[in-house]
Amino acid sequence: MKAIHIIAVGALAIVVSYLYVYHGGSQEPMKFPTDGYFGPGKKTADDTSIKPFKINVPDEVLKDLKERIKRTRIGHKQLEDVQDFTYGMNLKTVMDFKNYWETKYDWRKAEAQLNYFPQYTTQIEGLKIHFIHAKPPANKYKVVIPLLIVHGWPGNVYEFYKIIPYLSDPNNHFDGAESDIAFEVIAPSIPGYGWSEASQKSGFDQIATARIFRKLMNERLGFKRFMVQGGDWGSLVVTNLGRMYPEFLYGVHVNMAFVMNAKANFLSILGSFFPTLMFKDKEFYDYSVKKMFLEIIKESGYMHIQATKPDTVGIGLNDSPIGLMTYILEKFSTWTNPSFRNLADGGLEKKFTKDELLTIVTIYWINGNIIPSQRYYREYFANLEAQEFAKQYLRVPTALASFPHDLGIRLPREIVETAMNITHFTLMKDGGHFAAFEMPKQLATDIIAFTTETVRVV
Ligand SMILES: *[C@@H]1O[C@H](CO)[C@@H](O)[C@H](O)[C@H]1NC(C)=O
Repeated sequence: MKAIHIIAVGALAIVVSYLYVYHGGSQEPMKFPTDGYFGPGKKTADDTSIKPFKINVPDEVLKDLKERIKRTRIGHKQLEDVQDFTYGMNLKTVMDFKNYWETKYDWRKAEAQLNYFPQYTTQIEGLKIHFIHAKPPANKYKVVIPLLIVHGWPGNVYEFYKIIPYLSDPNNHFDGAESDIAFEVIAPSIPGYGWSEASQKSGFDQIATARIFRKLMNERLGFKRFMVQGGDWGSLVVTNLGRMYPEFLYGVHVNMAFVMNAKANFLSILGSFFPTLMFKDKEFYDYSVKKMFLEIIKESGYMHIQATKPDTVGIGLNDSPIGLMTYILEKFSTWTNPSFRNLADGGLEKKFTKDELLTIVTIYWINGNIIPSQRYYREYFANLEAQEFAKQYLRVPTALASFPHDLGIRLPREIVETAMNITHFTLMKDGGHFAAFEMPKQLATDIIAFTTETVRVV
């Protein structure tokens, strides 16, 4: 290391430690709005009843979708010397999925899969909230823990259809398992995603989502305490729940950690220079902030668009099924494993089936989810308070199941611990961003292990 680097790192260390000591330590919990209204017009009282719900998409919607897929205008040729996903989803793979969607894909089959779990709707803060509610078999488990699981973008509750059985009835799905605990799983659609109504007002962010889901769990369903789990935006929603309402939670389990405080940045920079001194686990001896930035630059264009002008790009995606499909599936490729960028088929079917992937996309299509789901980025990134809120230390016992191929780079425990009270930390051997969808068994195992440690089972 050159002298200039040592001086630069030293100077940075002093500045950052000063900022940390100055801002950290005596942190008072930040205030947050305890109520909100996101429905149309002036605030009206919610209809607090819980109504059973079945998905039943009208035939005309499916017919219209097929016709639009058929009439897709492809306006370009694949570059002759580019056969992979490095310029985005390549045309050959687009056409392969297009043909399947048009001629073989069966929405009714997916609908039946989703309707297998009991679903309900209720109204909170002016919005219709849709949720899956799957209970363990009666009298089979000593302890039943309510578990709120929250999806992210570009996903929806369909990501959970494989993991729910492992959670709600583990002994029936894990070979030889004898678990004393099982979960009563509540999987809501974030408003604007899936079948939950989109906000009519600006400002619908991850703090509001946490508040609405707390109302769902406590006030509508009557759970006094519960466990929470999430990845992607779901991770921010459930960690916000921990910041806002620690008294209601047993713990927080995430499969992606939002870590953005000054101390973490400091550790991250220092750790890039002296990883063997800073991090215990050998896995992080090649830790590099530079590598992280390069990955982020390559993969975060979508984020900048959605954080600034979501409606402009959303109009086109909402009008073209193949445009929407391409935008979403490119993420399922790279976020499942960044090396899939270099494959002609984007590795999409290494981990998921065409049916599974197209069901995620079809849910966005039939519900017009894309614009509200993109606005969710703007509400966070254009709101300094929401970002400050997310930087507050999370005190409740927290678990991170870290999947190696998730987007960005993997964070060492020492860095994650600057942001949250990590009591359970698992470095998974395989898997990426869509953990519940790709590795349901492994993720469920980790959630059960953390819960067993955290909730005293007697
Ligand atoms: C972390 O959680 C444990 C278990 O509840 C608790 O004993 C401990 O005080 C917490 N640590 C912090 C820093 O809040």
